[in-house]
Amino acid sequence: MAEHFAVRGGARLMGAVDVVGAKNSVLKLMAAALLAEGTTTITNCPEILDVPLMADVLRSLGCTVEVDHDTVTIDVPAEPGAQADYRSVSRLRASVCVLGPLVARCRRAVVPLPGGDAIGSRPLDMHQAGLRKLGATTEIEHGRVVAQADELRGAQIWLDFPSVGATENILMAAVLADGTTVIDNAAREPEIVDLCTMLQQMGAKIDGVGSSTLTVHGVSGLQPTRHRVIGDRIVGATWAFAAAMTRGQVTVRGVDPHHLDLVLDKLRTAGADIAIGTDEFTVTMEGRPCAVDFVTLPYPGFATDLQPMAIALSAVAEGTSMITENVFEARFRFVEEMMRLGADARTDGHHAVVRGVEQLSSAPVWASDIRAGAGLVLAGLCADGETEVWDVEHIDRGYPRFVENLCALGADIERVSTEPQR
Ligand code: UD1
Repeated sequence: MAEHFAVRGGARLMGAVDVVGAKNSVLKLMAAALLAEGTTTITNCPEILDVPLMADVLRSLGCTVEVDHDTVTIDVPAEPGAQADYRSVSRLRASVCVLGPLVARCRRAVVPLPGGDAIGSRPLDMHQAGLRKLGATTEIEHGRVVAQADELRGAQIWLDFPSVGATENILMAAVLADGTTVIDNAAREPEIVDLCTMLQQMGAKIDGVGSSTLTVHGVSGLQPTRHRVIGDRIVGATWAFAAAMTRGQVTVRGVDPHHLDLVLDKLRTAGADIAIGTDEFTVTMEGRPCAVDFVTLPYPGFATDLQPMAIALSAVAEGTSMITENVFEARFRFVEEMMRLGADARTDGHHAVVRGVEQLSSAPVWASDIRAGAGLVLAGLCADGETEVWDVEHIDRGYPRFVENLCALGADIERVSTEPQR
């Protein structure tokens, strides 16, 4: 049976929503557990498919993994396997983050290439170059990355671009290298800070956490730990955009509002009133949002994962917005689906121009990835009639209890199972 979401637009979202741990953090924290023999426990995990998929990757490396609601317990053997299972890895792009910990622990890692993505190419050249600087050899053989090293030595590494994945892999290899590693132009997303915090709890020595220069003093061994995942800022921001677009009032709990400083400032510019608390914020929108320009960049810039929400907001705003995508070249592909809903949008290279319309109109649309899917649902909340959003398994991979949360805020949305349509 195929599933779709049936969204009937018109409701103003009102109420409060709790956000759990970040998808883009938990998967890396699970990989980091490989760095220490024994039992590591991770709490506040989101109940999304990617967590059991990552558990399978770790099981294929000899770990015993238990997933119990929001808690994942990983028992790592003295000698984990070095070869990740093809089937598990191919279903989960983020599984490539076992590369760094495996080279550090086993001095050898064989990780199948995780494959393409609907948002654009995702090469591993920076991951590999960083591991080579640390003394490993890396090759692509038969569709797998094979990395090995007799020993890892600290090195000075300059990243061409602050890649999240490359920073994480190099960091997780460097914590057990001999000597000091400096990663310059490192990514500084809050999820990297979360990873550094967990590694420090395990005994790693890292300076410059949260900055673009990470200095890692290698240690000879790490201990298992217990760690709580940070709240998912992308999910939190999705609710903030939903509130602004539907002229509602939504309190988002469980996310550090400072991780969304720029995003909330953009919404303020669009006309929203934003009240900030310690671990929560409230977005109130009285009238129609005004058009704002967005430029995606590595953190602390505007997150590329929120670009579909920016397009959705611009589609219903008063005026014309320019959205510039600097991180993933194919991320505008979903704009065609937005146009089915009546968005007046045009893309040229990495720019999109969106002229806001008063009212979107319902249509069947297809989600090409997690965030595009969420953006389409947000647009459906502002369309007349019933919008069907298909391929919702993408949305389920990033948003736990998505439909339930929206219903609790007053949206008219349901999950429908039918025979496949295409
Ligand atoms: C992570 C997030 C993803 C987010 C992205 C950017 C996870 C699981 N995913 O993806 O949701 O959209 O960060 O915030 O955490 N690149 C190279 N060579 C490399 C590595 C990356 O050219 O070796 C390029 C990519 O093609 C892309 C850019 O660098 O254009 C950014 O990618 P990166 O920051 O690495 O994203 P991910 O870690 O894959």
